[in-house]
This record gives sequence, C-alpha cells and structure tokens, in this order.
Amino acid sequence: MDLKVTNLADAIESVLIDEQRLQARVRELGAQITRDYHGQDLILVGVLKGAIMFMVDLARHIDAPVELDFMAVSSYGASTTTSGIVRILKDLDTNIEGRHVLIVEDIVDTGLTLRYIYENLQTREPASLRICALLNKQKARKADVRLDYVGFEIPDRFVVGYGLDYAELYRNLPFIGVLRPDYYRPSA
Ligand code: IMP
Ligand code: MG
Repeated sequence: MDLKVTNLADAIESVLIDEQRLQARVRELGAQITRDYHGQDLILVGVLKGAIMFMVDLARHIDAPVELDFMAVSSYGASTTTSGIVRILKDLDTNIEGRHVLIVEDIVDTGLTLRYIYENLQTREPASLRICALLNKQKARKADVRLDYVGFEIPDRFVVGYGLDYAELYRNLPFIGVLRPDYYRPSA
C-alpha cells in the first residue's frame, strides 16, 4: 500500500463520535460496571485488536481490582464483511471456570463474531458472562447476541479510530470517524 498520509485526520470524511464524548461515555460505563460487580472478582476479556483502546480506558474507570485477559480471533472472508466462521488465534491465559467474565468488544456488526466468542466462553462454565461493546450497529445484526453494556448506537456505516481499523490502519485516531472513500483500497 502506498498511501501518502501525512496527517492522519486527512483520511477522515466526518467525525462520528469525538474524543470528549467517547471519554465521557467510557467513564460512565466504568462507573456502571464498578457498581454492578461490587464485591465480585471480575475478569475483563478484550477481543484483540479492535478493543484495545476501549479496554485500557474502561479498565482505568473501574474502581475495583480487575484482571485483564485477551483473545484474538479472525473471521474468514473479506475485510469489511464477516462470514461467521471464526478461528481462535490467541486464547485466554486464564481459566475462567467459576469466574465473573465481561467480554469487551469494539463493535458489534452482524454479531457473528461475538456470538461465537460468547458460546465458546460459556462452555468453560464461568460464574457469569456478559458483554460490553463500545459501538453497536443494530441494523446490521444477523446473529442474536444480548449486549449488557453498549457505549453508542451507530448507523450501519464503516467506521475507524479508537481501536477500529481499516486494513490495520487508523486504530490510533483518538475519535470514531468515517473514512474518506478514496482511502479505501480497491482490492481490500
Ligand atoms: P461482526 O462479526 O460482523 O459483528 O463484526 C466483527 C468484527 O468486524 C468487529 O469486531 C470489528 O473488528 C469488525 N468490524 C465490524 N464493523 C466494523 C467497522 O465499522 N469498522 C471497523 N471494523 C469493523
Ligand atoms: Mg473486533
């Protein structure tokens, strides 16, 4: 790829959720999770790589001792669509049997990835298993998943930033935005 991006923000057509709104909402979610899990040991399971920014910010707003663990999965198929066939690239380090587990995900689109992860972790018999997603594209849903915590409902558009990528780029934008059409690679 040979994109001459000198200024990262130049690649963005419009900002959907700015940094201030993002941070305010993450703080609220952290406070809510702190209340809901009061007195319970909690493990946050971040889904790599998209959830990294959200996961670290969220964890800093949870006022309780939490463990952090990560999973990496890949779905077969084109980069901007999901096939529903999911492969575990990196599994948890922790045995979650009998533990309270909160899955932290960047975005729920079709829901196929999250349904797979949820069902897979459920077989390990955690004490509880819930889902926290920063973004929800309800319109795109194909698989039924119950989201316990949602940061923002967004329209069915492809977004980047704050962990979310296009072709592995733009994760480091501090806000959520829509990519300019000329920044999409024809082959991707
Ligand atoms: P799902 O299985 O269709 O719900 O989506 C699975 C994954 O696709 C998400 O965890 C993201 O990594 C990716 N994804 C879905 N929508 C977007 C988007 O708008 N921008 C960037 N990645 C996305
Ligand atoms: Mg993801």
